[in-house]
Amino acid sequence: MSALLELDDVHVYYGPFHALRGNTLTVGEGEIVSLLGGNASGKSTTMKTILGLVKPKGGTVRFDGRDVTHASTRQRVVAGIASVPEARRVFPQMTVDENLLAGAFTRKDRAGIQEDLERIREHFPRLAERRRQEAGTLSGGEQQMLAFGRALMSRPRLICMDEPTMGLSPKLVDQVLDEIARINRELGVAVLLVEQQAELALSIASRGYVLASGEIVLQGGSRELLDDPEIQVAYLGKATDTAAESDTTA
Ligand SMILES: Nc1ncnc2c1ncn2[C@@H]1O[C@H](COP(=O)(O)OP(=O)(O)OP(=O)(O)O)[C@@H](O)[C@H]1O
Ligand SMILES: [Mg+2]
Repeated sequence: MSALLELDDVHVYYGPFHALRGNTLTVGEGEIVSLLGGNASGKSTTMKTILGLVKPKGGTVRFDGRDVTHASTRQRVVAGIASVPEARRVFPQMTVDENLLAGAFTRKDRAGIQEDLERIREHFPRLAERRRQEAGTLSGGEQQMLAFGRALMSRPRLICMDEPTMGLSPKLVDQVLDEIARINRELGVAVLLVEQQAELALSIASRGYVLASGEIVLQGGSRELLDDPEIQVAYLGKATDTAAESDTTA
């Protein structure tokens, strides 16, 4: 069985800087996969490579069995890849509705677009209440919902989310993760989830990859990654004593 998304031996350079060093990863149809790693490890670069915003020097990107390594971002969106970019960039001077419609920029089926708009308003009632508000004036949590809703407007099969919980309160973080799990369950959309909060991300993902200095240094099932104290200390930002503690209480 071939995966929905497959990166095979991908190398990315920024000038002389080797940012991704032969990375191979997959996301299955309808799966949630987490991409973990510290600052500057290459998480956003991986996302940008999948979206076609950064061109790899070597390796291939396949989506739904097709080689999209040299496809434009637009072609990838049409194929079914959507993104919630880092810092949940919305168009600040456009209204909530205009932002949502911008997510459907590759579509021409007006009835279908209207249907999806309604469905997203049902999913996120806040966005319905604030449909004419300028997006830049929304709260952080509302902007996150909007970025998520906008991604859904292209009817994607895969959403790449780059640190969707960044800067949100613990309560909102839980809400956002619940929302991701719910959309995944209800719509069958696969999710590649970049997170620094490893435990939270792994709580909704089936598998995870850990990046360090542009290389995938670890991968495995979520449970396996969560239960390994050595992994926690080395890569998931846990203090040694906490790891020892979870070792005895697990
Ligand atoms: N356009 C660019 N030009 C040069 N170097 C870049 C560029 N974009 C990213 N880099 C470098 O590539 C490395 C990986 O960056 P990337 O944004 O992928 O990291 P990240 O894992 O997303 O980090 P963070 O958690 O801080 O968002 C960093 O050292 C960064 O400085
Ligand atoms: Mg990043």
